[in-house]
Amino acid sequence: MSINDRLKRPLEYLRISLTDRCNYRCSYCMPKDIFNTDYKYLKKSELLTFEEILSFIEVLNTFNLKKIRLTGGEPLLRRNIENLIVKIKDLGINQVALTTNGSLLSLDKAKLLKENGLDGVTISLDSLKCSTNKKINPYFNLSKVIDSIYIATDIFGFAKINVVIMNNINSNEIFDIVDRFKNLNVEIRFIEFMDVGETNEWNLDSVYSSERIYNDISKRYLLTKLKDELDSTSTKWQLEDYTAKVGFISSITQPFCRSCNRARLSADGFFYTCLFASHGYNVLETLRKSSSTLELQHDIQNIWSKRIDQYSVLRKTSRYENDRESKIEMSYIGG
Ligand code: GTP
Ligand code: 5AD
Ligand code: SF4
Ligand code: SF4
Repeated sequence: MSINDRLKRPLEYLRISLTDRCNYRCSYCMPKDIFNTDYKYLKKSELLTFEEILSFIEVLNTFNLKKIRLTGGEPLLRRNIENLIVKIKDLGINQVALTTNGSLLSLDKAKLLKENGLDGVTISLDSLKCSTNKKINPYFNLSKVIDSIYIATDIFGFAKINVVIMNNINSNEIFDIVDRFKNLNVEIRFIEFMDVGETNEWNLDSVYSSERIYNDISKRYLLTKLKDELDSTSTKWQLEDYTAKVGFISSITQPFCRSCNRARLSADGFFYTCLFASHGYNVLETLRKSSSTLELQHDIQNIWSKRIDQYSVLRKTSRYENDRESKIEMSYIGG
């Protein structure tokens, strides 16, 4: 049985954050002055166990889930995630993917993840220059992340590369990145800097729009539009004469809420219906309260059927400028 929200969007895709911790400190996600040793991260005892995650997936799968993406923080900080992946696949989930910062993806780990059923990997990389990376993320290990991209394309046959573009930080490096990866079987996805959470000091001037990125790339490459996938965040283009594709994730200038079929589960077991939410529903409490999952199924159905989220569309209205509650952090909910 599938369920639709108030805007007729089905619940088809679950993003699961496995931890709110990360070994990197990207300024747009976990600025180092805030996410320091005093920051209150979740305690190990607060994290959902793999069994609890699987029970929740079983419930959601009664609504016909098509895809699960594992995120963080950095999901590879959680040990033995292959044991979770194999069981998710056993539940009949068609597609299971992982978004990682690429710092911990060894060849052996990638093989293990693939053997246990992982379908694909997305790796973040914002610059090829040490000086820029130092500004964005003091702990960034460029050679390791590039290695991981090669490992991912070898083992999975294809990888996605996430590049967050910020005006005057890395907006003049777009061509370098395309040039570096154009001969790989990858989708290079340029992401507009988003106002997620409350700590990254986002403002509109720091956004470099997808349109500008597209125009920059077009000056040197021929781009052919690929078919839009209904529930995708990105619009895709083929780089003519090369294997790589480029994608644009334009949450600021061209929101894609209309087709948003995504729900999110935090590492401590809260269910969110939007990346920009302030409140979630406590799955863990319901799971632990009763051995029956019927109550949980009923609650999720109730929440989703009332869903009206379309934050990115409404962002510009005054509704969100005044008196709004704090949004959850990206590192907590995984993007
Ligand atoms: P697919 O599963 O391949 O569609 O990947 P994805 O692009 O959704 O996931 P990924 O983790 O690679 O995220 C890429 C960028 O898209 C990040 O900046 C995410 O924060 C952003 N993103 C993902 N889902 C949503 C969403 O539902 N709304 C908004 N506004 N941004 C999203
Ligand atoms: N705006 C846009 N993308 C972001 N990401 C993290 N924070 C932001 C932000 N403020 C991206 C990361 C990662 C993905 C999960 O989300 O680069 O690739
Ligand atoms: Fe870590 Fe990813 Fe956030 Fe960077 S964007 S701090 S790698 S979780
Ligand atoms: Fe979905 Fe919210 Fe993102 Fe819109 S802003 S696409 S409703 S998660």
